[in-house]
Amino acid sequence: MKSNSIRFKRTNGGVGAFVENADLSTHLSDSQVKTLKSALGEYGVLFFRNQMIDPHAHQAFAENMGTIDINRFFKPVEGFPKIAEVRKEPEQKYAIGEDWHTDHSYDQIPALGSILLARELPQHGGDTMFSNMYAAYDALSDGLKEMLLTLKAEHSSRHRFGRQSKASNSSDTGGRLGNPDLATQDAIHPVVITHPISGRKALYVNRAFTLGFVGWAQAESKALLDFLYNHASQPEFTYRFEWEEGSVAMWDNRATWHKALNDYHGERRLMHRITLEGEALPA
Ligand code: SIN
Repeated sequence: MKSNSIRFKRTNGGVGAFVENADLSTHLSDSQVKTLKSALGEYGVLFFRNQMIDPHAHQAFAENMGTIDINRFFKPVEGFPKIAEVRKEPEQKYAIGEDWHTDHSYDQIPALGSILLARELPQHGGDTMFSNMYAAYDALSDGLKEMLLTLKAEHSSRHRFGRQSKASNSSDTGGRLGNPDLATQDAIHPVVITHPISGRKALYVNRAFTLGFVGWAQAESKALLDFLYNHASQPEFTYRFEWEEGSVAMWDNRATWHKALNDYHGERRLMHRITLEGEALPA
């Protein structure tokens, strides 16, 4: 099998590695899965090129890596309820995931990560940015780290996907996002988590879903969150991934942020995303 000796090559940015010698159309052995999971914990995001896999193989690879966590707000791929469509049509303005975020931080057990596969790409643009939450945490002062270690934050999907959200009330997102009545639960997580695979500390707040620190006034939370968001999106922590057809990005939500660059108006971009189930996040 081609993937007997999977190799990793760090990107030239602040996060992620390219995976060489892996064929995602084949069933991976237990030891290959272990290698990929441990690399995911270390690098935060793994990039694969030239994986011309159909939805059956995409799903089989995800099931090889873990248990699928179905996203309740995204429209599924026809015939594949476990695969979410991340779509933008030429006439649409809003791109799904265009703010820095980690998927499903609004869930009490947040998703481990996602496996995103490029199906149709614009001629130019449509890259995805990733940022390294280990490095962002490590670069803070000891004093701020110490304070953040004592904090918890509240996360929610209501303002993004609920009845009152912009997405729910816009015809631009109609047909792409749905189920606003399922935006019910909020979740509280430590602001700094210990990563379940690597054991490293990572910053766990994000612009899209974090509402504020538990016990803090909104204005107080906003001031510190804005500082953290500006800090953690500095170029030295990030990598910009340029998609090709058949590219796959598999990221770990507990170690990274990501955001879709919305710079290709007038063209279609279609990605298939499968999200993997995670575990409760320890401080
Ligand atoms: C997402 O936020 O899951 C989608 C990212 C992308 O489309 O690049």
